Amino acid sequence: MHRSDTESTLQTRHHIFWGDATDLSPVADASVDLVVTSPPYPMIEMWDRVFKAQSAEVAQALSRGRGMAAFEAMHQVLDRVWRELWRVMRPGAIACINIGDAVRTIGGLFTLYPNHARILSALLAIGFNPLPAVIWRKQTNAPNKFMGSGMLPAGAYVTLEHEFVLVVRKGNKRNFSSASGKQQRQESAYFWEERNLWFSDVWFDLKGSRQKLSKSERNRSGAFPVELAYRLICMYALRGDTVLDPFLGTGSTMIAAMAAGRHSIGMEIDRSLEDAVQAGIDEMVPWANERIDQRLTAHRAFVAEREKKHGPLRHRNVHYGFPVVTGQERQLRFHRPAAVRRLDKATFSVDYAPADYPETETNGPAGQTRAPRRPSVEPAARREPPNGQCVLPGF
Ligand SMILES: C[S@@+](CC[C@H](N)C(=O)[O-])C[C@H]1O[C@@H](n2cnc3c(N)ncnc32)[C@H](O)[C@@H]1O
Repeated sequence: MHRSDTESTLQTRHHIFWGDATDLSPVADASVDLVVTSPPYPMIEMWDRVFKAQSAEVAQALSRGRGMAAFEAMHQVLDRVWRELWRVMRPGAIACINIGDAVRTIGGLFTLYPNHARILSALLAIGFNPLPAVIWRKQTNAPNKFMGSGMLPAGAYVTLEHEFVLVVRKGNKRNFSSASGKQQRQESAYFWEERNLWFSDVWFDLKGSRQKLSKSERNRSGAFPVELAYRLICMYALRGDTVLDPFLGTGSTMIAAMAAGRHSIGMEIDRSLEDAVQAGIDEMVPWANERIDQRLTAHRAFVAEREKKHGPLRHRNVHYGFPVVTGQERQLRFHRPAAVRRLDKATFSVDYAPADYPETETNGPAGQTRAPRRPSVEPAARREPPNGQCVLPGF
């Protein structure tokens, strides 16, 4: 078994605030390293009730059949949250906002409501710096997915089967000047082949939301796939960073942060989602371990293929001994979540152990992979939290 000399331990904290994200006052200024979120989508009917409850203008515009006025009033609710994000994000922190556009007929007029464009202009007006965005394919197989006049021109409309992940940064690049910051960054690396997939601007490989949500929870929550949040967190945050989701919903971002070894804070206005969040957290440990196994197994398969075509790779990972394409992957290391402990009604902690990797005959790419071994970790419930302290800032 390849291991580094120092065994690193990790514990993360996660806190849910049940309330309105237009006021994020429980979260301290400049305390968040990454935001991953998906707001209620303006002009999608399932969110009308939520917006009407937060804005009399929305209710009035919808009742008068004034679509564009309702669209603008809904975005003015969201604008207040974006302004709060600016306050709580550290300089150099990134925000990833998942959003889809809407189409709707109001007062007999069929119109596109371009949510992604409206949100991006609001973010720019606040001062955020735009970065290249992701488009992800959200497939629908519904037989009635095509809209309009069918096979007759010119009244048919293309189906919206994609969503955006808008990516913006507060100011310029983050600095990693301390030795521990540099080490944390090296260990939080992803594989070269993951970079090639994740940093392509169109994602075709994301499946729907968490399978175990009941149909009514899924309809009510608009949950995005945990993999979407997990990928964004691995791309834009270091292990030990704090991730915020101001529209927590069923908790996909929090679950992904737990799986990836990042701290998290969630805000959610609808308390009836509490059981769905808890159910997701209950599934996190097996989900995360399976995902880590997949990443390790996929890497071994990638190396085998690559070395067959191009000969031996030049670098080796110091923790696992397997070959990697670049020197930046030498320190890359996974931490397996072992157990989640509920500290109070709204706070959770997760303990981790560095992930082992099964040895093979050669520990090279041609060896046969055995099933990855689970780490032996004392159940977290039997451990004391460090000084009883909450490591998350802001509460
Ligand atoms: C698109 S859903 C988020 C889904 C979430 N990503 C998930 O995976 O379940 C938007 C969520 O924002 C919540 N919400 C709406 N307005 C809010 C507000 N002002 N403050 C906090 N949460 C709000 C809704 O109740 C809903 O759960």
